[in-house]
Amino acid sequence: MPQLQEERRESWGTRSGFILAAVGSAVGLGNLWGFPYKLYDNGGAAFLIPYVVAMFVVGIPVMILEFSLGHFTQRAAPDAFGRAHKRLEFVGWWGIILGFVIVTFYPAILAYCFSFLWYSIKGILNGGQLPWAGQGIEGVKRAEEFFYQTYLHKHEGLLQWNIILPLILSWLTMYFCIFRGVKLVGKIVWLTVPLPWLMLAVLTVNGLMLKGSIDGLTYYLIPDWSELLKPTTWQAAFGQAFFSLSLAFGVMVTYASFLHRKSDLNNNAVIIGLADFATSFVAGLAIFATLGGMSYITRQAGNPVGVEDVIAGGPGLAFVAFPYALAQLPAAAWWSVIFFFTLLTLGIDSAFSITESVLASVVDKTGWKRSIVLPVMSLIGFGFGLIFVTRNGLNWLGVIADNIYGTWGIGFVGMLECIVLGWFWRIDFLRRHANNRSDWRINRLWDFLIRIIIPVILGTLFIWGLYSDLTGKGGFLRDESGKLDVMNCTGFVVMMAAPILAISVSIIKSSKRTDVLMHGRGGTIKGRKQGFISLVFALIAVGMIVFLLVNAAGGRQYRIVLWASLLFAVAAVGLGNITLGKYNRQLTEASWFGRWGGMVGTLGISGFTATWLIYYTTVHAELTKQQRIHELMLVVLVFIASGLIWCTYKAILKPEEPFEPQLPEEIGDEGRADSGD
Ligand code: PFF
Repeated sequence: MPQLQEERRESWGTRSGFILAAVGSAVGLGNLWGFPYKLYDNGGAAFLIPYVVAMFVVGIPVMILEFSLGHFTQRAAPDAFGRAHKRLEFVGWWGIILGFVIVTFYPAILAYCFSFLWYSIKGILNGGQLPWAGQGIEGVKRAEEFFYQTYLHKHEGLLQWNIILPLILSWLTMYFCIFRGVKLVGKIVWLTVPLPWLMLAVLTVNGLMLKGSIDGLTYYLIPDWSELLKPTTWQAAFGQAFFSLSLAFGVMVTYASFLHRKSDLNNNAVIIGLADFATSFVAGLAIFATLGGMSYITRQAGNPVGVEDVIAGGPGLAFVAFPYALAQLPAAAWWSVIFFFTLLTLGIDSAFSITESVLASVVDKTGWKRSIVLPVMSLIGFGFGLIFVTRNGLNWLGVIADNIYGTWGIGFVGMLECIVLGWFWRIDFLRRHANNRSDWRINRLWDFLIRIIIPVILGTLFIWGLYSDLTGKGGFLRDESGKLDVMNCTGFVVMMAAPILAISVSIIKSSKRTDVLMHGRGGTIKGRKQGFISLVFALIAVGMIVFLLVNAAGGRQYRIVLWASLLFAVAAVGLGNITLGKYNRQLTEASWFGRWGGMVGTLGISGFTATWLIYYTTVHAELTKQQRIHELMLVVLVFIASGLIWCTYKAILKPEEPFEPQLPEEIGDEGRADSGD
């Protein structure tokens, strides 16, 4: 029988404390430093399509999943997954370890912000003179030189002391923000969330009022639809959405575990998602309007610099292009202070949210004292962070960040989260848990999103990405001339170390765990036969897909096998789903064959979609018009037929509403009140 854990756990003081902290985690450097550039680089306004899908079809439902999991179990991510099923604990750790990787480099960027803030303040004291200021294209070079040479390579030796000091400052700030627990965090975010918003608003209004701002916005927003056909655009959108919403790193699970027992979950998730999206979009307006204004000013001065001359990826935007642009405005040093202070306050609460979630995971697992784990963890994080303040540090930072976004990164962990909880756990319990306390309710579509649709989308991106990594020039680990690419190899090793470490840690027995029985275990097992067939179908589908990917030949037989694989995969998912449906009745348990069948079948559908996309973007180019029309017709017909079959099944074969058992928590919830508080 499912039980709601009622434990004494510290909690956020208020609902707003939690919302602000979660917004603080979501809204960070990724919004101001990542999003505008990603949008510009991946098709301008066209990028909004995959991004909106990523945010609202995938991001917010996954956030509701993480909130309800954390809130239901009252544990940080690994233990929360572990309570779903003891073998799933590793999924939580995997995300936590990736989070830890972020918390090694994120403070290094905050360290740059501290330094540039300091230079800007010194600039004000020096009568407005900024060290990177210059005119025209020469000035751009000067700003580049200032960041890449003067600042990043100031010292001859390996370590850059001028960055280590601000790095220490970053860690100390993070430490003091969280050492007293989440109650204090809930207060600090009253400063670190509204303040950067206010300053961002000032920067945006100022940018939009500059002459020439519209030219900048043209760069930002004019759509290039062809970008939508590239896998990289979609990967960028989903990676950015997960990173920006702090999903799949265990942060939201952990934050929700500290939430008051009666708090809203669904509405909070939407508020946080919208606030995050709005911040990213407005940040883009601020950046590009200001760049447009800068371009106009330099043209007027007879030293023209275009937006395209300054825009560069990642840190280049925040530490070269934008500082240069601000330096062209009147009262430049003041604007710089505002900008770097905005970046700092945006980033700090994201950085400590990750630290908090790693901390809570370790404390929940071991029962060790927070006051000991936090300093030790901070020292380890700082120690790893030193890699990013070496002479080659920025390149390492780029490689590691790319890998976090890449094939084996957050998208993969997000998919794993959904697929394992969807098929191996009763997520309808979580849905009802969320609905019971929320301003508005989610319906059963959410179960399907988590169980099938989101894993299919993320799985497709994963397989597509993996395929292009493996088949790209020289493969993923080698450069074009066939030599091993040390940086990529290191990135890959780090990414692979995450699951290995995660599994190892999850095997260690935890200090205290009471399993929440979520499977109605002990009851009769139903649906073995269907389940078995489902698993066989799923394996056939996967076998076909692997065969197709290995022999990317094209041709008629190829296409027949491709479509057959879809049929098998869909049948496997359908049968698996029916098996799970039976298990919805109390005291019965669905056959594990069926769950595995459904899960592998879901991956099979991803495999089909990825193979289809690969095929259509490569081999398909050679098909005749007629062949293309035939295929298109087939797609539409399959779509209509499967819809009809599904509806007929619902209408004729299964007319009565499935029985939904009432949860003990629903019965006793009122009486139990807030012992968690
Ligand atoms: N969401 C943060 C940003 O957009 O900058 C970064 C982040 C915070 C990523 C927390 C991951 C995380 F767990």
